[in-house]
Amino acid sequence: MSNKNKPMCLSGKGVTKIFGHGEKKTVAVDNVDFDFYEGELISIVGESGSGKTTLAKMLLGLINVTEGEIYYHDVLRDISTRKKKKEYWKEIQAIFQDPFSSFNVFSKIDRVLLDCINMRGGRNLPMAKKIEMMTEACSFVNLKFEELTNKYPFELSGGQMQRLMIARIFLLKPKILLADEPTSMIDACSRATILDMLNNLRNEIGMTIIFITHDIGLAYYISDTVYIMEHGKVVEFGSADEVILNPKAEYTKRLISDVPKINEEWDLSTV
Ligand SMILES: Nc1ncnc2c1ncn2[C@@H]1O[C@H](COP(=O)(O)OP(=O)(O)O)[C@@H](O)[C@H]1O
Ligand SMILES: [Mg+2]
Repeated sequence: MSNKNKPMCLSGKGVTKIFGHGEKKTVAVDNVDFDFYEGELISIVGESGSGKTTLAKMLLGLINVTEGEIYYHDVLRDISTRKKKKEYWKEIQAIFQDPFSSFNVFSKIDRVLLDCINMRGGRNLPMAKKIEMMTEACSFVNLKFEELTNKYPFELSGGQMQRLMIARIFLLKPKILLADEPTSMIDACSRATILDMLNNLRNEIGMTIIFITHDIGLAYYISDTVYIMEHGKVVEFGSADEVILNPKAEYTKRLISDVPKINEEWDLSTV
């Protein structure tokens, strides 16, 4: 489907982040424009230090934008008060590289999931209904709720933790999911499963996914749209096919040539 038919989800004009001052100044994100449409899977690709996580933090509203504007559904985003920020965070959620950093280690797993139900306005639902919802969320990611209830996050394996993060997203049903290198800690097999689950969730709740990775092969495989970042700038963007089969920027060409097997691995002839 052409992007023209899809409503705008998140967009940015001249988005810039500068850390520090004077000699120590770092322009982490440099005058970036973007248009992310509803229901799309967008990958942001670049090497370490290219500004991906900084951009993600600005999209999430975790750090301020130094210059430029971010629009949510075509309206200038306003997260200037605590209340507005809380409303915004119902719409946008994130999963990070290290799942262990995302949980309060002193909360048991049922608490983690109950908090999601409460956040979505389910605080007054009967307990039986809440348990049904938590069980459903766990089974969506192939976890057994009964086996988790009394455990703490640190008692789970890395793969189970990643799946628990997706169960949270299943309950929170955000409009946008930001995933910052979510699969880099886990083996290739569970990586495919995690990506499948995210994709199912996207279809189920019409979510927009912004996927951050240094792996251009993976980006080609999973994305509708790709943005390539180098030293804080977007050097190229477009449909995954356009950008990766016909790259224009030297930097994109180099990223692709660093993955010598990209053509064989994904068998481009059949796509
Ligand atoms: N809090 C910070 N203070 C100062 N510099 C930072 C901070 N966060 C990131 N940077 C710098 O901004 C640049 C981009 O970093 P980052 O967004 O983490 O890149 P990526 O996620 O693509 O690896 C790097 O040069 C990094 O050192
Ligand atoms: Mg990063």
